[in-house]
Amino acid sequence: MTHRTAPLVVANWKMNLDGRVAEDLARAIVASPAVGDRSVEVLLAPPFPYLERVAAVVRGTQVGVAGQDLHWEEAGPFTGAVSGSMLADTGATHVLVGHSERRERFGDDDEAVKRKHQAARRAGLDPILCVGESLASRDAGQATNVVLAQIDAVAPGTPTIIAYEPIWAIGTGRVATITQAAEIHAAIRRHLGAGARVLYGGSVTPDNAGSLLSEPEIDGILVGSASLAATSFLDILAAAGTQAP
Ligand code: PGA
Repeated sequence: MTHRTAPLVVANWKMNLDGRVAEDLARAIVASPAVGDRSVEVLLAPPFPYLERVAAVVRGTQVGVAGQDLHWEEAGPFTGAVSGSMLADTGATHVLVGHSERRERFGDDDEAVKRKHQAARRAGLDPILCVGESLASRDAGQATNVVLAQIDAVAPGTPTIIAYEPIWAIGTGRVATITQAAEIHAAIRRHLGAGARVLYGGSVTPDNAGSLLSEPEIDGILVGSASLAATSFLDILAAAGTQAP
């Protein structure tokens, strides 16, 4: 079985890079062979202040731009916050919601993630809902239950883009095994239906991207650290491109 569509590769730059480096990296990505021959679909998620600059670089190419977060309100007295329509206005087409760093460090609970997910849709953005279990939940045999509960708390039954990112694999160098990832991906797909696009995230590197994506249950990848340098990210795109349908 091969993938139904070209793999989706999302670069989550988090709070890294400066504007000039972000533009240079976007230029290198646009010029990469895997993007040129349309064997991958790519989304870049820069920090808010660089969205517009990165969007200008990728305009008219296979590469799109995503926000890393949004506020659920449209406008108002929310100092420091950014709304979905503001993101859309920069050229973003997608937005991450519920990343584990937002959940753990900024207190985004399921209710907040749900509101953000709905707000993204209202603004015409495609939300990428991030879910994933802690090490304690995995060790307790609860990984699948935790992940499906996180999905149901936010978007029950809605075909959507889900990024499965086990918390213990993010930024730790400890990638889930293909079997661990495939099991959760299959459970998510059974739960949401064939329309769901399920990405894997957590310590994806040029060395493991190809084998992760060779698993038919894994429709794409969400890459943090290895998306910050052209060398590693272009190698990931090249590996992903070989998995195109
Ligand atoms: P990582 O981050 O690739 O550095 O593990 C992934 C993510 O947090 O989206």
